[in-house]
Amino acid sequence: MNYRHGYHAGSFTDVFKHTILISLIKSLQQKNSAFCYLDTHAGAGCYDLWAEAAQKSNEFETGIAKVFNALNPPALIKDYLSCVQAINAHFSDSAASSLRYYPGSPVIMRYFARQQDRLVLTELHPQEYQLLKKEFARTRQANVHLLDGYHGLKAFLPPKERRGLILIDPPYERPNELAYLTSMLAHALKRFATGVYAIWYPIKARSIIDQFYRSLKDNIKNPILITELSIYPEESPLHLNGSGMAIVNPPWQIDDRISAFLPWLWQNLTIHHQGQFKISVLD
Ligand SMILES: C[S@@+](CC[C@H](N)C(=O)[O-])C[C@H]1O[C@@H](n2cnc3c(N)ncnc32)[C@H](O)[C@@H]1O
Repeated sequence: MNYRHGYHAGSFTDVFKHTILISLIKSLQQKNSAFCYLDTHAGAGCYDLWAEAAQKSNEFETGIAKVFNALNPPALIKDYLSCVQAINAHFSDSAASSLRYYPGSPVIMRYFARQQDRLVLTELHPQEYQLLKKEFARTRQANVHLLDGYHGLKAFLPPKERRGLILIDPPYERPNELAYLTSMLAHALKRFATGVYAIWYPIKARSIIDQFYRSLKDNIKNPILITELSIYPEESPLHLNGSGMAIVNPPWQIDDRISAFLPWLWQNLTIHHQGQFKISVLD
């Protein structure tokens, strides 16, 4: 396990992933009843963009830094930025208007969680786990586990609330991870058929993604919404050109929610109008 998210925190793929995540959280919160958020590959929770790792890759410069001070963004982007600003105000002496810290998915969920919502976070890298555990030490509604996230799908599903949002966000270090993930997802759906599952995937070459779609269609019978955002042409297999989120059991009207901000996001993140955005039902 070589991957450390600190090198990639706040990148354009994080901005995409986290805004989609917030749109899903907001959708589930349309109902008063509690839900369980399971983050299978949780990471460290919060990242210092001034630290060596982030400074080395500078990926946040083409991500959060491009939208952080946006004027009049769509409502959901405003929600996202309010979370990033709150983290900056909380962790640093500087004002919320300066960008130093970036929240990972568990910290974003904690920001939006209501009293009745519950967080289950799994992380396998020992150092990332320690950081995450420390970050959530005083959060009573969260449980943090040093565990393979795919095993977490078995251990924690179905949740007692019978409502759940599951983020599957692996670093794709395993060979054929998309195929493995699809089979683990099919098993998870047998345990918890009504959960909302959000699967993040990298877009390098389109042919790999087409194969992933075929595998999803062959193995998963539940409805799936595909959302993608790329900022470069999708033809270089060695380069991260964009990323997508496959949403299994998409909440009602989530496509409208996402359509309200995704074009804006692409316009603000694209490099010279390259790449594209997409929202479509997988059929
Ligand atoms: C892309 S990062 C997660 C980022 C996080 N979800 C966010 O959005 O802020 C992937 C994380 O998965 C962890 N990881 C790798 N293999 C894992 C596994 N089998 N189970 C759980 N975590 C794993 C890595 O250590 C890394 O922290």
